[in-house]
Amino acid sequence: MQKNYGVKFLAFGTSLPEMAVTNIDLEKLFETSDEWIYTRTGIKQRRIISKNETGLSLSLDAAKQALKKTNIKPEEIDLIIVATATPDNLYPTMSCMLQGELGAVNAVAFDLSAACSGFVFGIVTAAQFIYTGQYKNILVVGVDVHSRFIDWSERSVAVLFGDGAGAVLMSRALAKDDQILSFSINSEADKNKDLILENKNVNFLSFSNKGTSRNFVRMNGKAIYQFAVRVVPDLVNKLLDETKLKPNDLNYLILHQANQRIIDFIAKKLDFTSEQVISNISNVGNTSAASIPLAIMDAVSQKKIQTPCTLMLVGFGAGLTWGGIVLKLDKIV
Ligand code: ACO
Repeated sequence: MQKNYGVKFLAFGTSLPEMAVTNIDLEKLFETSDEWIYTRTGIKQRRIISKNETGLSLSLDAAKQALKKTNIKPEEIDLIIVATATPDNLYPTMSCMLQGELGAVNAVAFDLSAACSGFVFGIVTAAQFIYTGQYKNILVVGVDVHSRFIDWSERSVAVLFGDGAGAVLMSRALAKDDQILSFSINSEADKNKDLILENKNVNFLSFSNKGTSRNFVRMNGKAIYQFAVRVVPDLVNKLLDETKLKPNDLNYLILHQANQRIIDFIAKKLDFTSEQVISNISNVGNTSAASIPLAIMDAVSQKKIQTPCTLMLVGFGAGLTWGGIVLKLDKIV
């Protein structure tokens, strides 16, 4: 690929709703148990929006945090990409609303829909604009508020998801200093609709609503598990081949936090150690497009990630979509 420039990752930001909903809280909504949820998913609690919180408010919080860590002003942002599958509105887009809130008056903004792969797809898309020289400073946000699209009486899906947002500010570097070593994005039709959120006269729901709407996440859990363990190991191996890295050379593997069992299966299959594999699903659940930046920054704050480091990010989700990226970062802020 012709690269006129390289990409550097300047700063991350994250945001979680205030309200924590534990497995014990869910025991009051439907027949389940902390033990069932934890052993099958690794989740202990998730954060759910309440009061005035929205996908936009979480995105703004995450984006402001990232910006604050740099000397880039909102008007210097050239492009804003918001990856989300659960936007506050079908339109105006989350990205245009965020542009307005930030005062990023010189940016162009668009949303990207790739479900739980959205953050990786967003970074890869942003990188292309930087490589060509078209844009210099790009903000990528991954945000999802699945709580509004969950039937809180349907236990098999309700236990999985949490709300959250993560942002990263990317900027132009010299081509030789490119921090992206390799990437791959992929998709195929989910012909059986194993993971689907229909869009029919959407009602905005909130935690504990038991609506009759059809606009709820519906999932064939076993099929999605099979999908993940089929595509992710191949993708990891492909990226290792392309970068001529061995599993040992990767300091950290950060998979989409869908389910601890999926993470553990893949780590074992590929011989990654527990120190290499980052996980924060127990505290936040599956936050979809936000899960990778939330996992990175949680590990950084707990000093589980040391820099400089080489790390691989892998997203997978509805669509079906999956994608990975190998980064070499001298610092993560
Ligand atoms: N609490 C208690 N019992 C439950 C619950 C619950 N929350 N949910 C389902 N059950 C019951 C079922 O009714 C069933 O009972 P039965 O045997 O009497 O019929 C039993 O538990 C087993 O149900 P399964 O659906 O077969 O449960 P499974 O063992 O497959 O686990 C799970 C479900 C955790 C979702 C699993 O399929 C899985 O790990 N799937 C991966 C998909 C995933 O993680 N998706 C995340 C979102 S998608 C993404 O991010 C890409």
